[in-house]
Amino acid sequence: QWDLKTDWLGQEIVYKEQVKSTQLVAHELAREDAKHGTVVVAREQTEGRGRMRRYWDSKDGLGLWFSSIIRPMYIEPKRASQLTLVAAVAIADCLSKKGLDIKIKWPNDIFVGGRKLAGILTEMQAEQDFVQYIILGIGMNVNHEIEDLHDSIKEKATSLFLETREKMNLNHLLDQLLEELELKYEMFIEDGFHLFKEKWESYAYKIGEWLQVKTNNTWDAKVIGIHEDGALIVTDRQDQEQVLYSAEIIW
Ligand code: BTN
Repeated sequence: QWDLKTDWLGQEIVYKEQVKSTQLVAHELAREDAKHGTVVVAREQTEGRGRMRRYWDSKDGLGLWFSSIIRPMYIEPKRASQLTLVAAVAIADCLSKKGLDIKIKWPNDIFVGGRKLAGILTEMQAEQDFVQYIILGIGMNVNHEIEDLHDSIKEKATSLFLETREKMNLNHLLDQLLEELELKYEMFIEDGFHLFKEKWESYAYKIGEWLQVKTNNTWDAKVIGIHEDGALIVTDRQDQEQVLYSAEIIW
């Protein structure tokens, strides 16, 4: 059934019909010593989760909902957050090959035509300065028709079908994504994040435009790029450069 050209990512695939969240299953498997590169895929998630404890709508067979267990040999916890950005570039490269004009909204939303197509959720298990494992969760809306999008996101979300008018085979798409993710992960581990800086900036959503950033309070900012360590660089109304490690961008 699978024709996957990777060395380790997805060589072990755990396929589930229905789960609460593939993140939960992946955490369980990781605790039971599942191999580096094990991927959990589900047809449906009943409690799919997004960043900031948001709900992630994951209906039966409409999209790709999967979580990969990554066991980096020697990376510090702070580099784990860069992995999210690397994964975003991998997804963007993979989808750009299909002719889509992909944008990345920092840190990890994949946009097309001003609407969200996919999201990434990275969760890390670390002890002191040692990363035990990372669960890299990716959710992508694939074959949704407009009525399949949850009312609360209808205005803000999209699917590959809505963008291309083509229904896609989920397994093939998963193969393509895993291949790109493995390639980019290896580049990242070998050479670090700096290789991805320019690429990421070329995909950055609304770069150079004024928008709002929420930290302790909400203020105007203009995205100018990302730092070599993955932080977002913006300027404020006083023309001061600010480096953000965690913030929510209101676009
Ligand atoms: C976000 O945009 O906030 C991140 C969304 C991540 C969703 C994926 S779907 C597969 C994995 N399982 C989950 O419960 N969440 C991630």
